[in-house]
Order: sequence, then C-alpha cells, then structure tokens
Amino acid sequence: MNDKRQLILAIETSCDETAAAVIQNGVEIESNVVSSQIESHKRFGGVVPEIASRHHVEQITLVVEEALRQAKITFNEVDAVAVTEGPGLVGALLIGVNAAKALAFAHGKPVVGVHHIAGHIYANRLVKEMEFPLLSLVVSGGHTELVYMPEHGTFQVIGETRDDAAGEAYDKVARTLNLPYPGGPHIDRLAHEGSPSYSLPRAWLEEGSYDFSFSGLKSAVINTIHNAKQKGEEINPQDMAASFQQSVIDVLVTKTIRAAEEYNVKQVLLAGGVAANKGLRTELEKAFSALENVQLIIPPLSLCTDNAAMIGAAGSIQLEKGRLSTMALNANPGLDLEC
Ligand code: KG4
Ligand code: ZN
Repeated sequence: MNDKRQLILAIETSCDETAAAVIQNGVEIESNVVSSQIESHKRFGGVVPEIASRHHVEQITLVVEEALRQAKITFNEVDAVAVTEGPGLVGALLIGVNAAKALAFAHGKPVVGVHHIAGHIYANRLVKEMEFPLLSLVVSGGHTELVYMPEHGTFQVIGETRDDAAGEAYDKVARTLNLPYPGGPHIDRLAHEGSPSYSLPRAWLEEGSYDFSFSGLKSAVINTIHNAKQKGEEINPQDMAASFQQSVIDVLVTKTIRAAEEYNVKQVLLAGGVAANKGLRTELEKAFSALENVQLIIPPLSLCTDNAAMIGAAGSIQLEKGRLSTMALNANPGLDLEC
C-alpha cells in the first residue's frame, strides 16, 4: 500500500441490519453505523424478507450519509465502495448492491462485491492483523463453518453444517422455550443461570470429520419439552438452556481445537453472530490457553453481529488484489466462499 490512506465505504444489507461504514487502510474504523430492524421482525418470530427489504430501502441513504458524516469525509475521498454481494436474502441484498453501484457510478469509483462470511472473518482484522495460515470458526444464523485460510482472500471450507446452522438451532430452541427473537442472546443469558442437567446428544459425525450437525440436538430439546408437557411435568428453562448450550459448545470447541492442531495454524478467529455467545467465548479461551503456538482472536460484540465495518475490512484486501466487480454486479444469495 502506498502512503496515501485508503478509504472504503462499505455497505451491508444481507439480512435484517442496514449498515454502512468507512474503513481506513483495511484496519481502522472511521465510522460503523448499524440500523437494526429486529423490533419490526420480533412479533413474527423471525425475519420477514419483504419487511426487511422495505426497511433497507427506507434506511440505506440515511445510514450511508451518517457513515460519511461520522467519518468526516465526502464521497470524493472514498477510494472504493464495498458491498455484501451474498449470501443472504435476495431482496435485502439487492438494496445494498444497487445503492453501492449507484453511488460508485455517480462518483466514478470502483465497486467491490464481498462475501458475507468473508466479512465476518475479516471483522477480526479490525482487532488484530491476521497471520497465516489461520483457521476461522464461523458461527452465524445461516452458517456454521470451519474455514482454513493459507493467505489473504483464499478460503477453504474444511467443515460445515449438514443441516441447521448453530444460530438457527439457538433461535428454534429459544422459540420452543417461548423466548423472543433472536433467541441466541436469551438462551446464553438463561444458560448462565442454570446447570446442564438434561442429557442431550452431541453429533460428532464420522471420525475425523469437521462437519457439524445441530438438527438432532434441536429435536432432542423439542421432544424433551413436549414429552414433559404431555406428562404435566415442568421443564426448567435455565437448565435446558444450559444443557443445550453445553452440547453446542462442546462440539464447536473440540472440532476447532482438533483442526487448529492438524492444520498447524498460527491464529484461530471466531466469527459470526453466535461469536457473541459468552459461554462459547469463555470455553474457547480456556481451551486455547493450553495451546502455546496458536493465538485466539475474538472480536468485540459489536463486530460479531452483522455490520458493514467487516465488509470494508474484507473489501480492502480485494481492492489491493485488484479483485473489483463491474457494474454487472448482482445480488447472489447462493454465493460460494471458495471461488
Ligand atoms: O451473523 P449474524 O448477525 O447474522 C447472520 O449472518 O446470520 O448472526 C445472527 C445469529 C442469530 O441466530 C442469533 O440468535 C445469534 O446469531 N446470536 C447468538 C448470540 N447473539 C447472537 N447466539 C448465541 N449466543 C449469543 N449471545
Ligand atoms: Zn452475518
């Protein structure tokens, strides 16, 4: 990178947060504005795609203007516009992609399409410079993956969920316990008030596999609750939350440690909305404190859930590598991380 500072305006609208950020030199947050829609989706128990799109349309201009204002820059100083291209809700992604293209076209700036999961991983670069090879445990509402990175911008998925994502399982179990959406933080809170006294399964899958499966665990929780109801027995929600959380964490931590050792990585990065989970953060810290040569990085809570700063951090690397998009850039809900 030359002496001139590199400024990226980043936009993220893949799900239920309308977000814009300004990132300097790929690592410094000049502004990070997030407009959450959670209140609008809560009463439906999940994200309603049409409502999400409508909110994005209403919010996008305000959020972008606020990000530039807080960063104290004008559009002329921006070097590129980075935007989440996929995966996500197509109607939600489209708002961000079209806003980014319109802004880039109007001001003669390049546009960079970013993979949402690459963004979650690169949130860690806003905490500490990345050292390769590294491994990232990505746990979000839509994804659960172990991603190996030999260098910047190259991603190899060595394990992924075969059914539900970790966050999805959290949200579904929370719903069964009559907790509000999104359920992850509520289960996390209850788990700390109870003890893991219910016996629940852990899906280790075949020997050596880094894949995950959470649907069996989710069904076991739902069945236990339904059976108790039929017998007129009470379920202790704190203990159930603690048992579910322990089961999820055991599998995530054990597989991450094993992969870190096998792939001989220098760093392990936690990424995605479920990275906000206190139990997971504590257990990973405990497990990795015993591994001398591996540095564990855990982003602050504000960078774990969806935001645009992470998209700017990932977009900066693409800009440096000359991986620019064209005005033909389109929302791609099934975008592959590895290509
Ligand atoms: O990454 P994210 O903001 O959106 C996606 O890209 O999916 O992740 C959202 C997910 C939701 O399922 C939410 O319940 C979960 O992250 N989550 C948590 C916690 N905070 C958010 N799950 C467990 N514990 C938490 N503290
Ligand atoms: Zn996300």
